Parts: sequence; C-alpha cells; structure tokens
Amino acid sequence: MLNKINEILIQVKNFNVDTINKLEEFKLKFLSKKGLINNLFNDFKNIPNEDKKEVGLKINELKSLAQNKYNTLKAKLETDEISNLDIDLTLPGYNNKIGARHPLSIVRNEIIDIFKYLGFIISEGPEIEDDWHNFSSLNFPQDHPARDMQDTFFIDEATNILLRTHTSSIQVRVMENQEPPIRTISIGRCFRNEAISARAHCIFHQIEGLYIDENVSFADLKQTMLYFAQEFFGSNTKIKLRPSYFPFTEPSAEMDISCSICNGKGCKVCKHTGWLEILGCGMVDPNVLENNNISSKKYTGYAFGMGIERIAMLKYQIQDIRLFFENDVRFINQFSKEF
Ligand code: DAH
Repeated sequence: MLNKINEILIQVKNFNVDTINKLEEFKLKFLSKKGLINNLFNDFKNIPNEDKKEVGLKINELKSLAQNKYNTLKAKLETDEISNLDIDLTLPGYNNKIGARHPLSIVRNEIIDIFKYLGFIISEGPEIEDDWHNFSSLNFPQDHPARDMQDTFFIDEATNILLRTHTSSIQVRVMENQEPPIRTISIGRCFRNEAISARAHCIFHQIEGLYIDENVSFADLKQTMLYFAQEFFGSNTKIKLRPSYFPFTEPSAEMDISCSICNGKGCKVCKHTGWLEILGCGMVDPNVLENNNISSKKYTGYAFGMGIERIAMLKYQIQDIRLFFENDVRFINQFSKEF
C-alpha cells in the first residue's frame, strides 16, 4: 500500500500541466471521485488496523499535495490566460449612462417633503372617475356653468364616466373613507380637453391638499401656504391671496407668490407685475362636507390645488409645457442625477 502511495506521489509530482485542458486531466486522474487518490481510500478499509495510522497519514499528505498543486496551477493558468489577452486592464472602464430624474418627479418629491413635514399623508385615487367624485359631490350643480371651466374627456357620456379633470376628486374619496381629522395630499395625472400649446396640455399633474378638523380657519390656510411658498421658492418669498371662485370652497382664493425670478421687481416671466399665480385654495364648502357625511357644524377645513407643471416651469424656467411629455433625453438629462 505504501508503495502504491509513493508511486502516485511521483506521478502527481511529474504530471506536467501547462494548459487548462491538462489541468482538467490532472483533476480527473487524481482528485475526482473515481480518481487514483480516492481509490486509495477504498483500499484503506482492507489494511490491518496497526498500519492504518501511518497509511492514513500518507494518503492525506498525498491528497493535500495534489490539491495544492491543482490550486496553484489553476490560479497561475487563469492569470496567464487574462494577461495573454490583448487588453489593457489599466484602462478605465466604460461609464454606464445614468438616467436623470424627470423634472416633474423632482418637483413632486420636493412638494411632498414639505407637506409631509407638516404631517400631511399621501392619498391616491383613480384617473377614471365618475361624475359624483369629480363634480357633483364637490358642489358642481348639474348644468352649472362651472362645469365648463374644465373641458372634460368623457369615456361614457351616458353613465358620466370620465377622466378626472382635477385631483379634487381624491378629496372626496378620502372624505368617504376617513373621519376627521384629515390632513392629506394627493398627487396625480389630470386630463382636460384642451388644445395643446406651449402653455396648456391635455395631460398635466396636480397636487391637492385637504385639511379638516375642528376650528380650522382661513388663517391656518394662509400660514400653511406661506410656509410652503417660502420652503419651496426661498425664504424671502411673499404671498398674496386674491378672492376667486371654486364650487367646492367658500371663500375661495388664488394665490400669487412674489416673482422668484426678479424678486418682485418685474420681469418677462411675471409679465412685469412682480407676482406669479401658483395655486387655488379656500375653505372647504360646507356642502362638500355634508355631501360626504361630515358635520359642517362640528368641522371646518381648507383645501388647495396646484399644477406641478406650472411650478416646475417656474422653478426651471421652462418655456414650453410640451417638453415634459416628449421624453427627449436632451431635455431630461439637464436635471438632477441624484436618486
Ligand atoms: N381643482 C382646482 C382646479 O383644478 C384647483 C383647486 C382650487 C383645488 C381650489 C382646490 C382648491 O382644492 O381649494 O383648477
């Protein structure tokens, strides 16, 4: 047995390995399950007990010698293989192109962060809506001219299924499902049958806010809007609330901010007025609360809504709303690459 081990030892030492194929041969011959060394272990059972210690030691020595030879040669052959290739490993690698966040996503996330900090949570609603959620429950009476303010895409005029014209429809869905206090913002795509131009598109995005609790006042609305404007547009930003009309708020207002480009001095962007209109807001009309089974005696609330495209156009000085939807990488790549 010892002779046999020695014989194999010599074979292992003398086996010439200069290619990967030879290395495989080596492995098969000595180290595989049916290889010479493993066979020795089979014979091992038959030798007398007093020899077992010595023989076992020798077989193990042989096995680790073969295994070491294999490992060393494998590492060497593999590096040789790479260095034989005609490549320069010191060259820098190819840069993967990293996409950029879409400006609408950047603005949306910034606005969400501001309102999240104030305790608003995000709610969602469907893009395909019915008349009740988009109009009736929001205090748009049937045949009221206010419905003409928003040119609606109807999917089915018989059943009044439509593409939502504003995210105010999500307010209704929240009120149906939650009891006050409610403090939520909703973000989403809206659709209007508008002629597409540099200023208007048939698809756009809105952010809607809704706050309902006991004793919510117009002063709360004003302070929240001021906070938002200064967080988003800079701490020197001033706001101005102008009386307006929306069916679902009473009183209603439109909010202007001091022009973030000329600081209110007057420029092309603010049409030399020093002010930019950015959102609509107001106190939730008691009818809207009652339509959604919320007591208007106990609760009051405010709401606001703004177009994300408009805010993004102001922030980035983008002149044409159509750029947001063309997905031209030359446009999108100009924005933040931070993820
Ligand atoms: N839904 C309005 C629109 O699409 C925007 C709006 C105005 C939303 C006033 C509001 C609000 O929540 O209080 O033009």
